[in-house]
Amino acid sequence: MKSITLPWATPTLSKQPSFTRQETERFSWLTRLSDIRKPRKALFLNLAKQLKWPSEVFTILDLAFKSGLTRHYIWDLQGIPANLLPAFGFAMGLFKRGVTSHTKDPFWSPLKTPAGECQIDIVSSGEALNSVGVSRALGYTQDQINSLADLCTVIDENILDLYASVFKDNGQIIVIEPTEKNKSWSQVSRILSHWLDLGSPKNWLIVGGGITSDIAMFAASLIGANVTILPTTLLSMIDASTGGKTGINYFPFGKNQIGTFYYPQKIVVAPKFLETLPRREILSGGAEGLKHAILGLNEPLAAELALSLKEDNRTALANLLGTLIDTKVSIVAQDSFETLNIRDALNMGHTLAHALEAFSQEKKVRNPIRHGEAVALGLVFDLLISEKNGLLSQKKFSTFMDFIKESGVLLSVPDLGKALGQKNRGTLATVINEFLPYLFNDKKNTLHSGNFANILWIVPTDQKDSFPFFKKVTITLGQAQSIWQHLVFNILTPK
Ligand SMILES: NC(=O)c1ccc[n+]([C@@H]2O[C@H](COP(=O)([O-])OP(=O)(O)OC[C@H]3O[C@@H](n4cnc5c(N)ncnc54)[C@H](O)[C@@H]3O)[C@@H](O)[C@H]2O)c1
Ligand SMILES: [Zn+2]
Repeated sequence: MKSITLPWATPTLSKQPSFTRQETERFSWLTRLSDIRKPRKALFLNLAKQLKWPSEVFTILDLAFKSGLTRHYIWDLQGIPANLLPAFGFAMGLFKRGVTSHTKDPFWSPLKTPAGECQIDIVSSGEALNSVGVSRALGYTQDQINSLADLCTVIDENILDLYASVFKDNGQIIVIEPTEKNKSWSQVSRILSHWLDLGSPKNWLIVGGGITSDIAMFAASLIGANVTILPTTLLSMIDASTGGKTGINYFPFGKNQIGTFYYPQKIVVAPKFLETLPRREILSGGAEGLKHAILGLNEPLAAELALSLKEDNRTALANLLGTLIDTKVSIVAQDSFETLNIRDALNMGHTLAHALEAFSQEKKVRNPIRHGEAVALGLVFDLLISEKNGLLSQKKFSTFMDFIKESGVLLSVPDLGKALGQKNRGTLATVINEFLPYLFNDKKNTLHSGNFANILWIVPTDQKDSFPFFKKVTITLGQAQSIWQHLVFNILTPK
């Protein structure tokens, strides 16, 4: 067994973000306090009751989204009546996972997480996944798991089916159907009402992939539960479970727009779960792994990963887990709350990916694009930006590009076409004009909703001395269109 420690510290600011004129104007709703009243939706009134929060939190969030505020906008609380301050505090903690205020403590919010440490245990790949093995890894005896009134298991419904002998329904189980649609307030409310019915257990065991951990960790953060995560997908083992990011989608304003930073006490990575994971999910997680390798400009790691993905060699994959998790942890530990610009590295590939995902969801196609599939395309996109701007040597560019292609993480033209609701390569090449507007998190979703030149792309570079090797750049709409066309016509395979 290998153990990795993930420490997190309370946040500090690298530099004070500044107001932009545009944002000052957008934020004028703050002067219209009369708009901040109790929400009408029963869902929000119910959540407010479950969480013992002022219900205005939800109205404030909605107004902040409609005003188009970014995460860097400082919320000016001067002039806010004292009775509304708690509602603002919660909303500030949740809006895009936390915004700062003008008060003495810029991170003031009742949802602030104190500093701490998370232990990540990677159990050996041969270790059996019977309930005894699981309970030992978790540090609970089987009897405790069965009888601990203060422990509930929040679990992916497919894992409960596949591993019925490991996770017995002891009455303390909350089941989640893992779909992007379910990363929503209504699921959070459903989890909380079940949890209240169980007598509000303080300790949570969360079992599943990234969707399950995103929703369940978000719910856990709102009530301050002590959490152990047992990630079951490659993606959640090497990425989603280890960064403290929790959250739900808030369409039409985009993916993961509401959330918190909240770290589990422990993560137990059991490679055995990889054996039952469908190949499509392995490849989806593999894309995040390739991102980690590229961020470290680690060619041997990218080579080994690409080969094990191509050959679908799960034992070889299991042997890479430690290195992949280490890469993520070493970035997260430096910038636990994403306030220092270091952690932006992990968003490589994600600018494009989030727009593709939101678009695919809105298109209501039968099989929407998987997160990792979108990230794989985003990585190619960012590599191309980097190469075209002379930020990466030709050699490194071709090496990483070849690994991505060989690994099999890229969708073919017909599969991508289906996921984006496009009939042929021609329309796929121009669909960028329809999905890029999703970058603006604006309800109208037109390319005029915001300034394209302000959008940041996180690209790999070898012109920096220290890890993680990335730069933030801007590009023109014309450049984006021509890179996408190149990707569709010259990089993706026809079948
Ligand atoms: N919080 C973060 O830092 C972070 C990072 C990356 C991704 N994410 C989020 O993670 C989500 C994607 O997570 P995911 O790719 O793990 O998807 P997922 O949770 O939907 O799991 C994928 C599918 O595999 C099934 N499954 C899970 N484990 C299995 C196993 N061992 N055997 C067989 N089937 C299994 C699930 O039931 C599901 O159908 C996205 O919503 C993304 O935004 C979050
Ligand atoms: Zn991701």
